Amino acid sequence: MIYFSMGAYAFREIREDDLPLLLEWRNSPFIHAKMLTNHKITWEEHLNWFRRISGAPTRLHFMFTCNGQPIGYKGYSDVDFEARTCSGGSYIGELDNCPKDAGIYLFFMSVEYAFTKLGMERFEIDVFASNKKALRLDSFMGYEFDKINGYCVTKDGKQKLVYHGVLTKEKWMTRRVDVAEMLQFDLDDGAPNVIASTMGGGRRRQHLKKIFLRRAVPEDLMILYRWVNEPSVRANSFHSEPVSFEEHHGWFFEKLNDPNEAIYILMLEDNPIGQVRLSGRQERLMVSYSIDVKHRRQGFGTIILQLIEERIFDEDITLIGRVKKNNVASQAVFRRLDYVECELDDCFEYRKVVNRRSKIILEADNMNEQEFLTKMKEDILDTEDKLTMGTALDELEDWDSLAIVDFIAMANSVCGKKVKRTDVTGAKTFADLYALLK
Ligand SMILES: CC(C)(COP(=O)(O)OP(=O)(O)OC[C@H]1O[C@@H](n2cnc3c(N)ncnc32)[C@H](O)[C@@H]1OP(=O)(O)O)[C@@H](O)C(=O)NCCC(=O)NCCS
Repeated sequence: MIYFSMGAYAFREIREDDLPLLLEWRNSPFIHAKMLTNHKITWEEHLNWFRRISGAPTRLHFMFTCNGQPIGYKGYSDVDFEARTCSGGSYIGELDNCPKDAGIYLFFMSVEYAFTKLGMERFEIDVFASNKKALRLDSFMGYEFDKINGYCVTKDGKQKLVYHGVLTKEKWMTRRVDVAEMLQFDLDDGAPNVIASTMGGGRRRQHLKKIFLRRAVPEDLMILYRWVNEPSVRANSFHSEPVSFEEHHGWFFEKLNDPNEAIYILMLEDNPIGQVRLSGRQERLMVSYSIDVKHRRQGFGTIILQLIEERIFDEDITLIGRVKKNNVASQAVFRRLDYVECELDDCFEYRKVVNRRSKIILEADNMNEQEFLTKMKEDILDTEDKLTMGTALDELEDWDSLAIVDFIAMANSVCGKKVKRTDVTGAKTFADLYALLK
């Protein structure tokens, strides 16, 4: 049965004969990497999952089809018809065999169905902090992400930071006309629609743990004293002698009262598990951090730096970390987060400019060809290919449906332009895309 359709695309129910294809998609490396679920799914588990979702009142799952052919999946979970909230996820499984606009339809239809057909008031999603593309696209649709209070989830043996995003019906109703105009969708082109009539409720997000930074308070004196004298913290500091209590006491209260210093404690639910300190003035801030020994090598070192970046609200702040040459763990963290590395005599220095985007917004009209190509390469396509203004878009594997929406989103948010989908899909080279931003 078709539940919702727009153009050639539809949501239809999942049937038993779809199961082998769905399992293949769920376990493919591309989809697995973006899912919060953790392990390779066995046929048995897959079958149990299907049986569970088939009768579950809080879940709705669809095959996403194009001209009747299954090309992806759309799932709504935690559906609560009383509170009118739901969460959900989706993906394109047939990456090689689907039209360029499939992802665009999937994004739009997911939200449109939830608000205008299911009658939801609030749509919630969880996205990996590292999935910058999804965060940008969802923000374009109108989702608001809380990047101060994150969540962490175990993924491939490590803790990974997840941001929770919310889109309200009120926001969508004001946003959908603009989005539909850019994507050139006919908002009346939605028949036939079948509204699922299941009832039920309750949010289930037990696999997610709250993780956030809070400012240090006087009561943190002792825990910071314990952490500062932990042997590997001393060994990795530039002054490696043990720190006496008197010295620590004086230092801590001085820093707490210094406007050019900020100490934050990393909280996992109610437990302090690490600290990060920013020091400096104006546009350059030194960053130093540590994680409680019990929690190391689980991904928290990476998360604490991801979260500190979200605490910086000013534009063009350079974060600087200095790491001893034998401190491979900290080097790995900075590298993973794309800091630029520079080898000095006695250490590595890592630098990253945060909040650069707003500068680009201001200068969008003057974005030159080289800046434009860099933005396309690093942000939109995330490719190693060498790009020139004459490069043919059709030759690039990464120039896919989501990259097209991402370009439209970037044109809108960075350059303030409402670029039309067919103008983007009609572009042959980067020069054609560049012309659309002018
Ligand atoms: C540096 C520190 C904060 C990292 O915290 P963490 O929670 O272990 O960090 P993560 O788990 O996010 O990542 C650590 C990375 O280092 C790698 N690593 C850790 N110890 C390692 C070792 N002994 N050899 C090789 N790699 C190591 C991990 O494998 C991981 O990289 P990967 O995810 O690519 O595999 C933590 O080790 C610490 O508190 N050290 C003492 C204080 C310190 O050195 N602070 C930094 C001063 S600049």
